[in-house]
Amino acid sequence: MSVPLFTPVTFRGLTIRNRIGVSPMCQYSSQDGFANDWHLVHVGSRALGGAGMVIMEATGVTPEGRITPLCHGIWKDAHIDFLKRITAFTIGHGAAAGIQLAHAGRKASMAAPWEGGKRLKKPEGGWTTIAPSPLAFSPDMEAPHEMSLDDIKRLKDDFVAGARRAVAAGFQILEIHGAHGYLLHEFYSPLSNKRTDEYGGSEENRFRLICEIARAIRAEIPQQTVLAVRRSCSDWQDGGVTIDDTVRLSAALKKEGVDFIDCSSGALTPDGKIPVGPNYQVPFAKSIREKAGIATAAVGMINEPSQANDIIAGDEADMVFLARAMLRDPYWPLHAADVLGAEMDVPVQYLRGYRSEQIARPRQKKTG
Ligand SMILES: Cc1cc2nc3c(=O)[nH]c(=O)nc-3n(C[C@H](O)[C@H](O)[C@H](O)COP(=O)(O)O)c2cc1C
Repeated sequence: MSVPLFTPVTFRGLTIRNRIGVSPMCQYSSQDGFANDWHLVHVGSRALGGAGMVIMEATGVTPEGRITPLCHGIWKDAHIDFLKRITAFTIGHGAAAGIQLAHAGRKASMAAPWEGGKRLKKPEGGWTTIAPSPLAFSPDMEAPHEMSLDDIKRLKDDFVAGARRAVAAGFQILEIHGAHGYLLHEFYSPLSNKRTDEYGGSEENRFRLICEIARAIRAEIPQQTVLAVRRSCSDWQDGGVTIDDTVRLSAALKKEGVDFIDCSSGALTPDGKIPVGPNYQVPFAKSIREKAGIATAAVGMINEPSQANDIIAGDEADMVFLARAMLRDPYWPLHAADVLGAEMDVPVQYLRGYRSEQIARPRQKKTG
């Protein structure tokens, strides 16, 4: 009997071995944007652990687009080389390699969480942030610089250049970060966008930037490269983004050649009231899938194998993305296969660690 969580799914000819994705997670472990051994081992162990796809963390398309000075980046060609090792290892162990392209907008220039997580001032290594409108994220932060039309044009070019480098590095899935109160979310939410030009005001104008970036990236990348967008499907706040807006924007993104929507929510302001709990964002994934006719990933407090399997079995989403559960257990997919009775490919080097030879189908030996 096939277990829905462990059935393959295909996007644009890229077949993903199961429905489990590693959600993008900042590691705050780069210098000058470069990936290093930490990223190779972090991403690589989750590929060994059996995930269908691993989406590498929010990756700044410009230095100022990073959340912190320690965030990962892809603003220069020199970043490509090390990333090739990560994609080769990931793909070599059966997972699809993805990366999240990001600009943190008014939420940039912060210290890493374990260094206090506070806004960095210029003498501390911080920088001036940018946003659609000069509105601070919270009262204790200074207002960002309002982007000019030239700034917007440059930003689009930066996203496209980042996408080109990601493809050159071997990534098969590019995810545009349009969630969590970062720059592209700041443009489509009426709470943070008070512009009066063609990028503000009406829904069409607020949706314009993210659609233009998706279109420009799609035109740049190979036909077979999968394009995803992470969205905050609700601002959880009066006057903010609602699921109905999100369905319309998702349909527009589908027309631009986006293949799936990764359905997150919140984080535009410090005071949204988020009803966090198991599956709390799954209804977004279901609604977008049904009403906008585009594939979705569900994310947020999906921790248990049967819970994840039920989401896929119930046609609520095409993928489940896990973050914190994957920090606790990079081998979550192999353990879930064991619990659910699914056949799972185990690295041949690790076969003796698995109790059931029926479940543990030897994965082709890879030494690299
Ligand atoms: C350490 C950490 C770093 C994160 N970094 C990112 C990121 O780079 N991009 C992003 O879109 N979400 C990021 N998130 C959010 C997760 O991808 C995920 O949406 C969230 O944690 C909810 O899923 P979970 O309940 O499975 O942890 C991060 C979460 C954690 C715990």
